[in-house]
Amino acid sequence: MGPVLGKECSPLERLEISLLLEGIFQHYGYDFRNYSFPYTRRRIWHRIVSEDLRNVSELLGRVLRDAQLMDRLFEDLSIHVTEMFRDPSFFLAFREQGIPLLRDLPYVRIWHAGCSTGEEAYSMAILLHEEGLLEKVRIYATDINQRHLEKAKKGLFPLSRMQQYTKNYLQSGGAKAFSEYYSVRQSRVAFSSYLSDAMVFSQHNLATDHSFNEFQVIICRNVLIYFNETLQQRVMRLFDSSLAPNGFLGLGSKEGLIHQIRYSDYETINAKEKIYRKGEIKDRGKGFLTNEQYQNHDRRRS
Ligand SMILES: C[S@@+](CC[C@H](N)C(=O)[O-])C[C@H]1O[C@@H](n2cnc3c(N)ncnc32)[C@H](O)[C@@H]1O
Repeated sequence: MGPVLGKECSPLERLEISLLLEGIFQHYGYDFRNYSFPYTRRRIWHRIVSEDLRNVSELLGRVLRDAQLMDRLFEDLSIHVTEMFRDPSFFLAFREQGIPLLRDLPYVRIWHAGCSTGEEAYSMAILLHEEGLLEKVRIYATDINQRHLEKAKKGLFPLSRMQQYTKNYLQSGGAKAFSEYYSVRQSRVAFSSYLSDAMVFSQHNLATDHSFNEFQVIICRNVLIYFNETLQQRVMRLFDSSLAPNGFLGLGSKEGLIHQIRYSDYETINAKEKIYRKGEIKDRGKGFLTNEQYQNHDRRRS
């Protein structure tokens, strides 16, 4: 029988995992050190079992010498599950509560952080097209994983998913025939090029990279759930410094409680879908707590 992932993580295994993540960071530059521990542990053990290894230290020894094994582990750690109009109520809320406030702007830059294989960005482009805003919008879709981005750039999605995506689209407030947006090519569909013309796909690592523009909208759904609190705070500061005054931050309903939001000067636009709006510059100052402030604050509460 192969190794089994125990419920409890022993201090020794915890040390091995932290050495593994440190080794990966130092050798390959990928920083998974502040991902959620239970998530990282599960994914590491998935790789250990798949490679027929016995323990974390064995994986560490191999991964430092074998870049292809690192690629496989990297895929394990950057889960890319996604779909078009995923959680349709988010898109419905954005359509009803966000779009009216974007209408008068001369241009709109939207950042989809952790865009996976692009389905979320294509959904947004369709929504903006229907609302007559696509022409003045540029969608910046980023991800840590270059392979996901290559797929996204092609804009080809499995035909077999279209039934589900059509259902999502209709629930998100879409009123057209969804098939108007794509043409079928054997087992895949290609979305109209006027949608992808509005998009720029590029690699960006939320754990290590800095801000690269100022945005009127930032959407980051189903990504922060994989991070620990320290990394979530980093990303929140990154988003705060990348959002224009009055800009929207959309985190989606799956995120846990993002403490920062409650103490910052963001207006809640939709509590369930976790859509927030940044205040005007004159109201700023309280801003997001620094890591140190945050830890002190947490200590006071406990
Ligand atoms: C589960 S998918 C979510 C995709 C999409 N936002 C959605 O909600 O359907 C998470 C994505 O986050 C990306 N990701 C993980 N860590 C990241 C990081 N440090 N920086 C940028 N993207 C990251 C993964 O590669 C993956 O594509």
